[in-house]
Amino acid sequence: MKTFCGLICFFLTPLLLFSQSNTTIAIIPEPVSVNRTSGEFILPKNIVIEAGSQTDLKQVISFLKDRLSVPTGAHVSVGTSNANAVIKLMLNKSMDTKLGKEGYQLSVTPKNIIVRANQPAGLYYGAQTLVQLFPKEIESAEFVKNVRWFAPAVEITDYPRFTWRGLMFDVSRHFFTKQDVKLYIDKMVRYKYNILHLHLTDDEGWRIQIKSLPRLTEVGAWNVNKTGYFGTFSPPAADEPRNFGGFYTQDDLREIVQYAKERFVNILPEIDVPGHSLAAVVSYPELSCTPGADKYVVRSGEQIMDWSHGAPPIALVDNTLCPANEKVYVFLDKVLTEMAQIFPFEYIHMGGDECPKNFWEKSEDIKALMQREGLKTMEEVQSYFEKRLEKIVSSKGKKLIGWDEILEGGLAPSAAVMSWRGMKGGIEAAHMGHEVVMSPTTFAYLDYMQADPVIEPHIYASLHLNKAYQFEPLPDGVDPKYIKGGQANLWTEQVYNMRQAEYMTWPRGFAIAESVWSPKEKKNWNDFVRRVETHFDRLDEAETKYSPGVYDPIVSVKRTVDKQLKIELSTEIEGLDIYYTFDNSFPDRFYPKYTQPLTPPKDAVQLRLVTYRGKKQVGRLISITMDDLQKRAPIK
Ligand code: ACM
Repeated sequence: MKTFCGLICFFLTPLLLFSQSNTTIAIIPEPVSVNRTSGEFILPKNIVIEAGSQTDLKQVISFLKDRLSVPTGAHVSVGTSNANAVIKLMLNKSMDTKLGKEGYQLSVTPKNIIVRANQPAGLYYGAQTLVQLFPKEIESAEFVKNVRWFAPAVEITDYPRFTWRGLMFDVSRHFFTKQDVKLYIDKMVRYKYNILHLHLTDDEGWRIQIKSLPRLTEVGAWNVNKTGYFGTFSPPAADEPRNFGGFYTQDDLREIVQYAKERFVNILPEIDVPGHSLAAVVSYPELSCTPGADKYVVRSGEQIMDWSHGAPPIALVDNTLCPANEKVYVFLDKVLTEMAQIFPFEYIHMGGDECPKNFWEKSEDIKALMQREGLKTMEEVQSYFEKRLEKIVSSKGKKLIGWDEILEGGLAPSAAVMSWRGMKGGIEAAHMGHEVVMSPTTFAYLDYMQADPVIEPHIYASLHLNKAYQFEPLPDGVDPKYIKGGQANLWTEQVYNMRQAEYMTWPRGFAIAESVWSPKEKKNWNDFVRRVETHFDRLDEAETKYSPGVYDPIVSVKRTVDKQLKIELSTEIEGLDIYYTFDNSFPDRFYPKYTQPLTPPKDAVQLRLVTYRGKKQVGRLISITMDDLQKRAPIK
């Protein structure tokens, strides 16, 4: 018997150990503390959830019910108190200060699962973490056969580092429907984001119904559908139909606000003024300083700015509201009155970025305003506008937040700043005692390319996952009390549909989520990559699109002293091999492996690359012409 047991144990122990260590936990964003305990919780066929009776728990319960029943086929019932409950959602009777408003404790044992929190939001985040503990098939929208539904036993304590964990969705450059916005909310809350900033107006479309200003959506919400590279489209002809776009009615927006609220998300609405306002100017040309604005049309992606001199741009059409025109302030008062009634969030974003000044410079009205108010520069003119705007926003019981240009020429006393041109504006505003949200292009711009330009929809800059992961919202030497948190921004000039919106958001949205939720000292690139790869499998199950760009090779082109091309290759992820060829065929792992910088053969026309992990191709095939490589390292 002893020998028999010895043999069994000899064979079984490694298997048991393997199955235990194989249940590697991969939570994004990484929690404050995770302690793996022994055993696992097996999901029964009949799941009883015990929860309090608050209506605030409706979404927590419905989220859990959906995930735990649809893919598993289990039956889920919910009660306020039940001895058979295997999942208990408990609100603390007395406040656990460490957990705050959004923290939670999650205990998974072989017997049951308990989520505790001070507030419903904490239970919601605990439920999100719990779902991430189950096998990836839990993400499926359909029943999945032959899965062992279990979660590893674990004790987790978790709470966010920052209260502002935002994503911005530009619904102006391209319009996204109410259903699209709800879908975006569903995906963002999985990673514990709690603010959705909707960029509702721009040169390409005014997307919010303002009942007292009907032309904003009758005229301002529509342009011409074009395909190609936005920004370079031919100017639309008079006979091209202006039927592309759309807007949200106030009822739509109330529905979105409610949907978001049930998922513990605040909606931050943005009206971008005084620049980026062509849709408003076209609707009401009297808001412009420039004669002839009544001939303008809502932009369909044709060139309207000259960026060749840097920022601010030179406008080719005047897309600004006129700070010297009293009608503009009456207009903004009307807009803000209606907005304040739709959006309960304490902030309203009033834009302020990239306002061209060249038409203002020519305006007699602006000259008169400058004289009257003692304004010396165009930045001071914008500052005058922002200060008046802030008074209107305050009069509606809201706080103004704006892009960091609102600092130029003097910041309005209670304005908060969203720092996008790097961290500098945010640091300056925090030193002046203003609230700040960091959303720098350098780390948090989701419209930027995330892999080689040759395979990405082209845009003027790149942001790879490893750079996004370096986002640190709290710079050294800044008082943390002014840094509310951070945000990633998805501008949609080149984003035409939801699949592309998802592709641009994930996985960089993971990196930003971890930067705003997890303790700084818990961030670890290699471990993050491990978890990202696990979540790629989960997104596959959920049929959510993401960019696999992190597997692609990074190409860096240099010149030798005798001006020959020198091509250096690397990968973001450790442990990948790069195979290449200049012979126009398709490389695989039987081709030359990259080990040192490459010099192209004299008559080569293209370089082709692919990455492998062991025998498995992981990166996409990249083909770059020699002309392109030459342009990447111009001879000086
Ligand atoms: C911005 O990206 N113009 C705020």
